[in-house]
Amino acid sequence: MAYLDAGSGSPPVVLLHAFPLHAGMWEPLIDALSSRWRVIAPTLAPERADPPTVDAMADQVAELLRDLDVSEIVLGGLSMGGYVAFAFLHRYRALVRGLVLADTRPGADTPEVRERRANQQAQVAAEGPEPLFEAMLKSLPSEHTREHRPEVLARIRRLMDDVPAEHVIAALEAMKHRLDSTGDLPGIEVPALVIVGEDDAVSPPEVGEQMRDLLPDAHLAVIPQAGHLSSLEDPEAFNAEVVAFLERIS
Ligand code: MLT
Repeated sequence: MAYLDAGSGSPPVVLLHAFPLHAGMWEPLIDALSSRWRVIAPTLAPERADPPTVDAMADQVAELLRDLDVSEIVLGGLSMGGYVAFAFLHRYRALVRGLVLADTRPGADTPEVRERRANQQAQVAAEGPEPLFEAMLKSLPSEHTREHRPEVLARIRRLMDDVPAEHVIAALEAMKHRLDSTGDLPGIEVPALVIVGEDDAVSPPEVGEQMRDLLPDAHLAVIPQAGHLSSLEDPEAFNAEVVAFLERIS
């Protein structure tokens, strides 16, 4: 499995990326953390699992950690990365000392969302991922980011351009079939930071509030004027929240 590994300091922070991106989305946060903590960011590979599931992606992460001889982590995930983090927690809870959940939701897909993902899979199979990437570039970042931060849009676009069609199709399949993890939240007793962009239309702040309320030890941070990709839209604010959280629990 491809991964970024930088810095030193324990426990390592493991960062799981959003869809349709890869581990490179975490470079700004890795830069902010790696002078004090080890950061490991895998590029998830649902296309290598049969069938592709969030559980299979969690298993890939666990296997990587075994290979790296890492037995204790702070786990972070943004959006799809959060879905994989919930699966990881379900299977490997003992490894996790702290949790960062960004722009994500514990619930399963609704039938409407599943149908939309099936249509997207058919479109990617027929035309390649370009039209989906363009549509997501318009819908994921906030209006503020779209109007005032062209360099952020360019960075997101470059990340998308590295993602192959088979990953896109497999990740959609995995997300479509993921289970509802809401019932797990009250049992996740490690300190947690929930982060959400104020204008996130996919996993809005109300979902972040619900997670904060269900987790036994959680703090909620809302990133002003950011949308669904808050770590890329306002890295300064996002990174500051993560650093403050890690300082508190380290
Ligand atoms: C993501 O950012 O990972 C995706 O938007 C998640 C989703 O489609 O549910």
